[in-house]
Amino acid sequence: MCGIVGYIGERDAAPILLDGLRRLEYRGYDSAGLAVMDRAGAVMVQRAAGKLGNLAQRVEAAHPQGDAGIGHTRWATHGPPIERNAHPHSSPDGAILVVQNGIVENFHDLRAELRAEGYVFLSDTDTEVIAHLIHRFYHNGCGGDLEWAMRCALARLHGPNAIVAMSKDQPRRLIAARLGHAGGVAAGERAGEAFLASDMPAILSHTDEIVHLESGQMAVVEPGRIRYSTLSGDAVERRPVSVAWTAAEADKGGYAFYMEKEIYEQAASLTAALRGHLDVENRRVELAALNLDAGKLAALRRVTILACGTSYYAGLIGKHYLERLAGVPVEVDYASEFRYRQPLVRSDDLAVAITQSGETADTLAAAELAKERGAATAAIVNVEGSQITRLCDGVIPMQAGPEIGVASTKAFTAALVDLLLLAIYIGQETGRLDAEQRGELIEALLALPGMAGALLDEARRSGRYARLAETFHTSRNFLYLGRGMHYAIAREGALKLKEITYIHAEGYPAGEMKHGPIALIDEEWPTVVVAPQDRVYDKMVSQVEQIKARRGKVLAVASEGDAYLAGAADYVLPIPAANEFILPILAVLPLQLFAYEIARRKGLDVDQPRNLAKSVTVE
Ligand code: AGP
Repeated sequence: MCGIVGYIGERDAAPILLDGLRRLEYRGYDSAGLAVMDRAGAVMVQRAAGKLGNLAQRVEAAHPQGDAGIGHTRWATHGPPIERNAHPHSSPDGAILVVQNGIVENFHDLRAELRAEGYVFLSDTDTEVIAHLIHRFYHNGCGGDLEWAMRCALARLHGPNAIVAMSKDQPRRLIAARLGHAGGVAAGERAGEAFLASDMPAILSHTDEIVHLESGQMAVVEPGRIRYSTLSGDAVERRPVSVAWTAAEADKGGYAFYMEKEIYEQAASLTAALRGHLDVENRRVELAALNLDAGKLAALRRVTILACGTSYYAGLIGKHYLERLAGVPVEVDYASEFRYRQPLVRSDDLAVAITQSGETADTLAAAELAKERGAATAAIVNVEGSQITRLCDGVIPMQAGPEIGVASTKAFTAALVDLLLLAIYIGQETGRLDAEQRGELIEALLALPGMAGALLDEARRSGRYARLAETFHTSRNFLYLGRGMHYAIAREGALKLKEITYIHAEGYPAGEMKHGPIALIDEEWPTVVVAPQDRVYDKMVSQVEQIKARRGKVLAVASEGDAYLAGAADYVLPIPAANEFILPILAVLPLQLFAYEIARRKGLDVDQPRNLAKSVTVE
């Protein structure tokens, strides 16, 4: 949830650390801090509550000098987001400085233990416990060896954590470590310099050769040289992998917000999602990295989809795809529930984890549990090299490029493409889907990016969503209704509105409306109905009638040329006619735009909504 960075080399560390933090700010943004160290071990620490801009002002005024340092952008877990809780935190003598992403679950016990030994705590954080623990071992038992003091301290911590530490006594060295599923630690080096960061965008402008630290590993980072080891001190060989993402992809590219860019680039990200997966001539889907042979697929008894948030809603649509096209029963579980409900898993199950970041703690734990209990596992994931890619037996990469906006958009549509590919693939390998049906679906998939591009171009040209935002930005509640696959789209649309506009919105199955929620409807409570012309269209039409009979306002995501909804609904959000499996991928686009434009109209920070962080690496 937090972002950590580290630099050591020949250049001024402060601007490099600030630039890295700017690129990681999506991970947490309630306070930030950095520590810069010169070659004599003199350290200057700057911290500030609030957004990164506050820290940047302080750094500009103070000009910290030094060519090594660590930085942090925080999403508060222990203690409010005020300056004294901002990282870095230091040992009592100020010699050891630490930044952390994660949670020290036994921090109350450790704090009591350290207090009894005379340690004084200046913050409410669990991070300060780590700094004090390292200090204790450094002076008692580890003979002034920071690396070993850190190993001893880490052995006392419970819970997932990623940590970077530095010491005034060893000014040409940073030490990073990772315990469990706590956000990533990416490391990269280039002539005379070395970089650390929670995520690749903070490093990409320096190098595209990156190592992702595994759980239980440590990196000792010196200028131009990184040494890897286990926490017990055994050397580990880690070869950097080349990353296909570029620094430019991770920039805003002239858009006001990352989210806006990510919405409008979906024609390209959908094209990329298909890359390497379609054999058009033979009407076949290729999923080489899934690592499941035809025999195993034929014996599949069940698919369990595990995910959180937006990725979970993609899973709800995946259930329709897989049951109808691959003929296999599917359960969709919130990863956070699955991991604690003693699930019944068998060796003929396939667990599919969907995760943009590949670092969501609940999704990692749920996939790990399914694997331990004998299921084959596969990840639908966007971030290359993320933990889930190493945990699962197979991977279907989203290939959507970096998604920085906290509200997920292009990763959702890429996940839907991957789920559709998976359903076609299983249908193809088991013989349940014939070549003609596959051919139709492949044609539909090939047409999808063009359709999405045309929809988005028209939306921009017409200014429709900015006008709708003008009308609805003062509404206090919304109901979103859909049926079948579009029930999941209704839930995703409501989530988008909630998380970036702070307007209450509920996504509901349209058929359940009459069992309660209809009581909410009046002139003040608008309803968004997702009602393209599909197999449940007639049912959605009756829903619209019932809302209108109660004087509710209706915004309808409707097929272009739908004369009935053009008359019955108050506003139409048009999408093109398409193959029924493609429709949900198009139907979500107007809802992303609607939420985005309302947030803009309200003057909100679209990319950094309050209380949220992009990667939820803690429970
Ligand atoms: C989406 O807009 C959210 N910010 C959030 O629900 C997100 O989808 C969820 O945290 C899962 O993330 P993941 O896909 O990276 O695992």
